[in-house]
Amino acid sequence: MKKIIAMLLVLAMLLSFAACGNSGNTGNETNDNENNEAAPVTEPENGTEDAAKKVLIVYFSPANSDTADAVSMATPKVGNASSTEYIAKLIGEKVDADMAAIVPAEAYPLPYNDAADKAKKEQDNNERPTFTLDVNPEDYDVIIVGYPIWWYHLPMIIRNFFETYDFSGKTIIPYTMHAGSRDGGTWNEIKELEPEASVLDGLAISGERASKAEKSVSDWLKDLGY
Ligand SMILES: Cc1cc2nc3c(=O)[nH]c(=O)nc-3n(C[C@H](O)[C@H](O)[C@H](O)COP(=O)(O)O)c2cc1C
Repeated sequence: MKKIIAMLLVLAMLLSFAACGNSGNTGNETNDNENNEAAPVTEPENGTEDAAKKVLIVYFSPANSDTADAVSMATPKVGNASSTEYIAKLIGEKVDADMAAIVPAEAYPLPYNDAADKAKKEQDNNERPTFTLDVNPEDYDVIIVGYPIWWYHLPMIIRNFFETYDFSGKTIIPYTMHAGSRDGGTWNEIKELEPEASVLDGLAISGERASKAEKSVSDWLKDLGY
């Protein structure tokens, strides 16, 4: 019975994300639908001359293959990968880049409701969850950053990531995973956190449809010059 109630709560939450889907948008939405229309938002920033730039793909996802809550659409998986990780790997197949995960110092709990509570508390208390990262992202010219939308905003750990590093003069290319909120206004949040960087509007991908996003991702990367 408890499990059914928990699943109903998750469903209600996801429906509410979907219903509020456009509320936080920047107005520059990308397409992640199955028709794979070209993403209209990104200006070609990394043309041929920029191809030699050092690129890092960095992503955060609370779930990994060991901890993902497979029953919940809130942490959808593609094979063994979380949706954010799956897209990072797709990008990695198409762009000559290093890749690194932002790993939370304190793992997010299961079940999903507990993780959701923790994420909400972090946001309400304006916390800065700490993390480890195998590389120094300041060593790169272009930083492709992937993360899920959490409670309509950047996860606080991603906020901490941007406050930890100075990306002045660099190019930041975000992509977001979501259940209806698309970028949730987070590209603007990043612009505020990194005012001296060139922060491009990125690609918003429905987590549920991550497994079908390959063409959207390729088209988006082509538009960016990759
Ligand atoms: C704590 C939490 C909060 C979420 N908040 C939102 C939200 O505000 N808007 C939205 O569209 N999706 C929200 N989602 C759904 C996720 O963004 C989406 O399922 C994403 O694909 C999860 O990425 P992952 O599979 O890498 O964990 C939330 C998920 C979690 C776990």
